[in-house]
Amino acid sequence: MPKSLNAIAQKLMTPGQGILAADESEGTIGKRFDKINLPNTLELRRDYREMLFGATQAMQKYISGVILTEETLKQEAASGTPFRAILADADVIPGIKVDRGAFPMPGEAGEKITEGLDGLRQRLASYAELGAGFAKWRAVITINDIAPTRNNIRANAHSLARYAMLCQEAGIVPIVEPEVVGDGEPGNHSMERCAQVTGDVLENVFKELRLAGVDLAGMLLKPNMVLPGLNSRERPSVDEVARRTVAVLKEHVPAAVPGIAFLSGGQTDEEATAHLSAMNQISGKPWPLTFSYGRALQNVALRAWAGRRENFSIAREAFAHRAHMNSLAALGEWSNGVDRAA
Ligand code: G3H
Repeated sequence: MPKSLNAIAQKLMTPGQGILAADESEGTIGKRFDKINLPNTLELRRDYREMLFGATQAMQKYISGVILTEETLKQEAASGTPFRAILADADVIPGIKVDRGAFPMPGEAGEKITEGLDGLRQRLASYAELGAGFAKWRAVITINDIAPTRNNIRANAHSLARYAMLCQEAGIVPIVEPEVVGDGEPGNHSMERCAQVTGDVLENVFKELRLAGVDLAGMLLKPNMVLPGLNSRERPSVDEVARRTVAVLKEHVPAAVPGIAFLSGGQTDEEATAHLSAMNQISGKPWPLTFSYGRALQNVALRAWAGRRENFSIAREAFAHRAHMNSLAALGEWSNGVDRAA
C-alpha cells in the first residue's frame, strides 16, 4: 500500500477503478438478508463477503478499495485466510467504516446526527495496525418542510471535520461522506431543492475541514448526486442529473481534493452507472469522478448468491458485470448497449 495520504487517495482513484462499499452494519445487512429470506448470522455475513471479495478478477481489474465493517476487517474466509489478505492479494486497499451510525438529533425536524467520535483516536490506531488505508464516516442530511436546519448542517459538518482530522493523524485517508438522502420522509423534494441543499452542505463541510486543518490532498469526498427525492414525480434526464451534479460540485468542492467517489443512494443499478458515465463525459472538471457504491454494485450478486456457497460462481459473475459496467462509467465509456450485451 502507498505510504502518503495523497498517494493512497490517488491509488483509490486509479482510472477505471472504484470503491466497493461493503460496510453495511449488522442492522443494515440484516435488512438486505431479510429481503431474500435469510437469517442474519455471523456465518452468512462471512459467506456473503467471501463471495464478493473472492471475485478475484473483478476485484483486481475494477476495484481499488473496499469499505469494511470492523467485524469483516478482523474476519477470515472459511479457509482461514483473513479477508485483509485476500484483498491485499488482489491489490485492493482495505478501508473501514468508523462511524457508529446516524441517530435522531434533538429537535422537531426529524434530523439525524452521526455518532462515533468518542474513542475514535484509539480505534483508528488499531485499524491502521490491521492494514486499513482509508476510512469512511457518513453524515445524513434530511430534507423535509423544516429540514435541514442550520444547526444540523453545522453539527454534521463539524463531526466530519473532527473525524477527518483524526484519520489523517493516524495515517488513514478519510472519505468524507455528507449524504443528502433521497429516500427519507417524505422524499418528494425537487431536484432543485436537492441541488441547493447539497451545495449548502458542501460549503459548510469544506469550511469546517479547513478550520480543522484537514489536508484536502489527503482525503476523498463521497457525495450524493443531485436528484429529486425518490418519491418525487420529477424525472430528469441522465444528462440533466450529470450536468446539475457537476455544476454543484464545481461550485463547492476545491480542486485540491484528489477525487470524488459517489454513493448510489437507492438509485437503480443502471441509473447509478449511467449518471456516473454521463458526468465523466463532461469536460473541465478538476477532480476525477468514480463510484463508491454499496447497493448498486451488490443488488444482483446478493440475489444470485441467495445464501448458498454453491452459488458463489454465478453470484461473482453478476458482481463482476456490475463492477465492469461501473469501471466503464468511471472512464465515461459506458452505454446501455454494452450493459445489456455483455
Ligand atoms: O454510506 C453509504 C454506502 O457506503 C454507499 O451505499 O451506494 O448503497 O448508497 P449506497
